[in-house]
Amino acid sequence: MHPPHTIRTALIGLGNVNRNFLRILEMKHAALARRYGLAFVVVCVADSSGVAVAANGFDPAATRHFKEAGGRVCDLPGSVAGAAPAAVLATLACDLVLEASPVNLTTGEPGLSVARAALQRGIAVVLANKGPLVLAYCELHEIAAASGAGLAFSATVCGALPVINIGRRDLIAAEVLSLRGIFNATTNFILTEMAAGRGYADALAEAQRRGIAETDPTLDVAGWDAANKLVIVANSMLGSGLARAVTLADVAVTGITGVTAAHLAHAAAQGATIKLLATAERTTDHTGAGYVLTVAPTPVAADSFLGQCHGWEMGVEIESDLYGRMYHKIWEREPLPTAAAMLRDAVNLWTRGGSPAWPG
Ligand SMILES: NC(=O)c1ccc[n+]([C@@H]2O[C@H](COP(=O)([O-])OP(=O)(O)OC[C@H]3O[C@@H](n4cnc5c(N)ncnc54)[C@H](OP(=O)(O)O)[C@@H]3O)[C@@H](O)[C@H]2O)c1
Repeated sequence: MHPPHTIRTALIGLGNVNRNFLRILEMKHAALARRYGLAFVVVCVADSSGVAVAANGFDPAATRHFKEAGGRVCDLPGSVAGAAPAAVLATLACDLVLEASPVNLTTGEPGLSVARAALQRGIAVVLANKGPLVLAYCELHEIAAASGAGLAFSATVCGALPVINIGRRDLIAAEVLSLRGIFNATTNFILTEMAAGRGYADALAEAQRRGIAETDPTLDVAGWDAANKLVIVANSMLGSGLARAVTLADVAVTGITGVTAAHLAHAAAQGATIKLLATAERTTDHTGAGYVLTVAPTPVAADSFLGQCHGWEMGVEIESDLYGRMYHKIWEREPLPTAAAMLRDAVNLWTRGGSPAWPG
């Protein structure tokens, strides 16, 4: 048997997601070598304190335990004093970057500079962080196409639910007529718990404790996380129907902070339940983006597919001209499946090759 192909990997952010990626390397190291002929060696890690490099690789378990015990990357051996992750990536011998730092909708940083620096050098980038794609979807794809670097981001929408993969790989030649999704588990959990009588703040605190809420939970409850995902879905899946690339300015966004127990009880009395829906509806008005894009708390029939997505579930229904109406859902209560989605993207880039992995 050949030795596995080494993928020198940089982990940007060592929070809930990338610590779970390290956990997966601990669990699946042998299976990855046996089934895919791949060995991920973590040659660079970064958190808010700094960046550290190790040409021969950091031990996944020791690095995870170090962070879980409150350690800071600036105190690791190999720490690069005062350097930003993008600056380190400009020269590092590296094959893959897993970007899982917090969403920043103003600057996209540090993720946007990280993605640019890596892609320009032909280094593959897998994103869990939506910010760089929301702010620079076309630019990043252009850089990747020019350098031949892989760029994948299935973890950015609904964690491990492969919405993007289905849209790009499996809806060949289709035009999406309507897409309706519950894209944010934190708000779905809060609404489900509130309908059962629990307080808003208590339910949000549980989502934060489990590592599901955004670093800044305002992004969840104000609807921006769902809107970010809708922008990524639109640009990656609705291409044939889009008049132009979509931005956050194209999405009408309302969060759940105005939803009260009384609203939920009133909906229940009508046989409905309130969900934070992200919707893309095809429009014949070609002065806009080609779709009406909305995120808003919306009553849906309690016995419908979306009405039956409870608590930690997220789901999407996609109606197209060729493939009927598809329904997909996931139950995800911790960040491990999202980290697995990043692994899936990376393995697909290496085993299928090319950039993007499927037609955009
Ligand atoms: N959690 C989920 O279930 C989930 C699902 C899908 C997508 N995502 C996305 O994945 C990303 C990470 O989520 P998470 O839950 O892992 O967040 P998190 O637990 O808050 O971790 C964020 C990590 O980024 C680090 N960081 C902050 N600023 C940085 C900087 N300037 N340079 C380098 N690192 C920096 C933090 O450092 P410190 O450790 O020093 O604080 C921390 O290690 C987010 O963009 C989120 O939207 C998360």
